[in-house]
Amino acid sequence: MSVTEQPPPASTPGPAPDGDAAAEQLRDRISADSLTTRRDYLRIVATVSGGLAVGGVGVAAGILHRHGDSENLPEPKKVTDVLAPGQSVAFRFPGEEDRAVAVRLADGTLVGYSAVCTHLACAVLWREDRGPEGELYCPCHEGVFDARTGEVTAGPPPRPLPRVFLTEQGDGSVWAIGTARSGEPAKDALCRQFGDAHPEFSAQMRCPGSDRAAEPERKRT
Ligand code: FES
Repeated sequence: MSVTEQPPPASTPGPAPDGDAAAEQLRDRISADSLTTRRDYLRIVATVSGGLAVGGVGVAAGILHRHGDSENLPEPKKVTDVLAPGQSVAFRFPGEEDRAVAVRLADGTLVGYSAVCTHLACAVLWREDRGPEGELYCPCHEGVFDARTGEVTAGPPPRPLPRVFLTEQGDGSVWAIGTARSGEPAKDALCRQFGDAHPEFSAQMRCPGSDRAAEPERKRT
């Protein structure tokens, strides 16, 4: 099943929230470090993704590949059929040269990051045996990143790991749906990638410029 082929929701949703309530709900979901296991958010993503003819997004950024450089919506990519707590999986996203890692933390939280160290681009590895809840570890110069946030906790890396947004299907499969630049707030990253193509999403998220985009609609009604 692709992300664009969603099963019907378990229950009929009520009236769509509006204004502050809708924005707050979405912010809560997005600020939870990962965009995971949220059926209704997945439906938003399905809507966002549906019908788009987007190709693979190449992230050509000189010597170092950097995640999140694209202004376009990456094509959703299946990462794995299932990911158990404590496990990780390496994958490529959004382009085939872009190393990434998905981790299921012990409490079930699903997180995804670029696996390219922000120091000198060595491969970052998941180490379940390190730290209170595992660490993302770069063996080249002992760089360490917080598994829950991607922030640097030790060593020379100058910036956090760029985030890869993940979501989970009802069948347990894990999908990559977007990226953020290093240190970029999730909302900004989502607005940049999803907002332009999908004004409803943009308005719900209160993305910059969404009011202007909606203005012609209001004038016609
Ligand atoms: Fe990762 Fe130096 S390349 S710490």
